Amino acid sequence: MPTLLEQLVAKTSRRFEERYREPPRWVVAAPGRVNLIGEHIDYSDGFVLPMAIDRYTVIAARENDEARMSNDRTKDNSSFVIRHSSLAATVFSDATNDEVTIPLDTPQRHAKGGHWSNYVAGVMAGCVARGLRPSGFRAVIDSDVPLGGGLSSSAALEVATATLLEAITGVTLDPVAKALLCQQAEHEYAGVPCGIMDQFASTLCRADHLMLLDCRSRQVELIPFTDPQLTVLIINSNVKHELSGGEYAQRRDQCEAAARKLGVSSLRDATLDQLEAARGTLAPASYQRARHAISEIARTVNAAVAVRAGDWPAVGQYMADSHVSLRDDYEVSCRELDLLVELADAIGRAGGVYGSRMTGGGFGGCTVSLVETQRVDGIGRNIAAVYQRETGIEPTVLTSRPSQGAHIVQAPS
Ligand code: GLA
Repeated sequence: MPTLLEQLVAKTSRRFEERYREPPRWVVAAPGRVNLIGEHIDYSDGFVLPMAIDRYTVIAARENDEARMSNDRTKDNSSFVIRHSSLAATVFSDATNDEVTIPLDTPQRHAKGGHWSNYVAGVMAGCVARGLRPSGFRAVIDSDVPLGGGLSSSAALEVATATLLEAITGVTLDPVAKALLCQQAEHEYAGVPCGIMDQFASTLCRADHLMLLDCRSRQVELIPFTDPQLTVLIINSNVKHELSGGEYAQRRDQCEAAARKLGVSSLRDATLDQLEAARGTLAPASYQRARHAISEIARTVNAAVAVRAGDWPAVGQYMADSHVSLRDDYEVSCRELDLLVELADAIGRAGGVYGSRMTGGGFGGCTVSLVETQRVDGIGRNIAAVYQRETGIEPTVLTSRPSQGAHIVQAPS
């Protein structure tokens, strides 16, 4: 039975061949991620504990005629050589069924704000700035990471693009530099002031491991996560509340304001005692945001200790506490996410649920629950049925083992 990734690779390659009448030369893949704990603290220099999921963005590509002409003429030593600056990438998205052409010397933002190709163009600009000079190419992109579901579909697209440029040029970027250039693309081309978790997870995660990332030092510790009795259950609420864009930036500002008031460079350096002592000087919202950030950093460190010890009830409790903090102090949850978590909590330890919480940026998207493998199917079905009855929305239920980060699937040897 082919894996989901193998199926997606075959489908994307087929699509490429149908469209361009020749097989792709390069195929790359970059995964989405789910964060077990450590939410909204990457931009406060905290710790996060995500894993890559077995849902990927795949890109199949081949040099275009322009590049072939340019290569031939260079080889012939012809005086008429196409300059690199005339080369372009033509990129087709299977999800949206549209194609864009991006000049490789000055990759531009798409005229439509929020267009998927901004992530691609931003990463191309970052790669070109770091000296990667791809030939002109054609590419087809496909993905089974749910779009806008809080599982890092944008980071998967960014990191897949960077991986493709590595494959085409034969230059391997330092993985940390690669993740950072993808984050920069999201800041500058998509206008989202995100932290570093998603791009690091998509780039650096490994199969069978959680990734404990220290967002200050950027040190990664891979923690084995292979207990067959345990499954990570992800339920997509299939809602996305529109307020998310501005609210994210506002949370970030509030944390930075709280850190300034406390006289620390980031909330990583603050303690709950310090925060209590300074409570009177802080706006109530800043106080709450800081309380979440400081407590979540501690919970994440403790949860990593519990994962290493295989203490799943403790991990589950930290996840539950994280949700309460995100809901009440950070105010990034919503009715639908709270309902999914309440339903999982009601099943509880006796029914095979260790713990559950919202995951990702919030205001919709997914919950993540740690459950007993043996009972995962029933648990998913029960939660989905009640959720649908109460909200009228059909959720999507998925499970994933910790999967491999971005990699080149096919390249000429
Ligand atoms: C989004 C951002 C991340 C992180 C999470 C919340 O996914 O891209 O950097 O801040 O939200 O933990």
